[in-house]
Amino acid sequence: MRIHAEVNGEAREFETKGSESLLFVLADQLGLPGAKGACEQGECGSCSVMLDGRLVCSCLVMAVDVDGSEIVTVEGLGRSGLHPVQKALVDSGAVQCGFCTPGFVVAAAALLDENPVPSSDEIREALSGNICRCTGYGAILRGLDSLAGNR
Ligand code: FES
Ligand code: FES
Repeated sequence: MRIHAEVNGEAREFETKGSESLLFVLADQLGLPGAKGACEQGECGSCSVMLDGRLVCSCLVMAVDVDGSEIVTVEGLGRSGLHPVQKALVDSGAVQCGFCTPGFVVAAAALLDENPVPSSDEIREALSGNICRCTGYGAILRGLDSLAGNR
């Protein structure tokens, strides 16, 4: 099946047999490896992307289902220089191995799109689906609190 979608603002197309996840197609066919596969069960958030304005785990989305959709990946967020979330995480020293970072960036950017001035509790709630195996939560949350103007 030939699938057409807008990916990071560009019209893209790809082939799918119907059994591949969006996560797989992004990396394997569209040259976008930013979303990371870890659990591939919707548990860790490292594969987060925006699909038609909603935050989703791309490991749980079948590629065949995105025909006609708009997708934004972490590569799309950083197209014209660092996204404010990326800058905040760099400034707070929040990146260790970096594997979880794309997922945190996409989830935090999605939150700020909806709620530009989130409280600390709202940030924690919004990121509760993202796991950092390096356990760098303190620096991640400090960076995002600082971006949102929280103490
Ligand atoms: S790889 Fe998709 S949620 Fe973990
Ligand atoms: S920085 Fe290594 S998993 Fe989060």
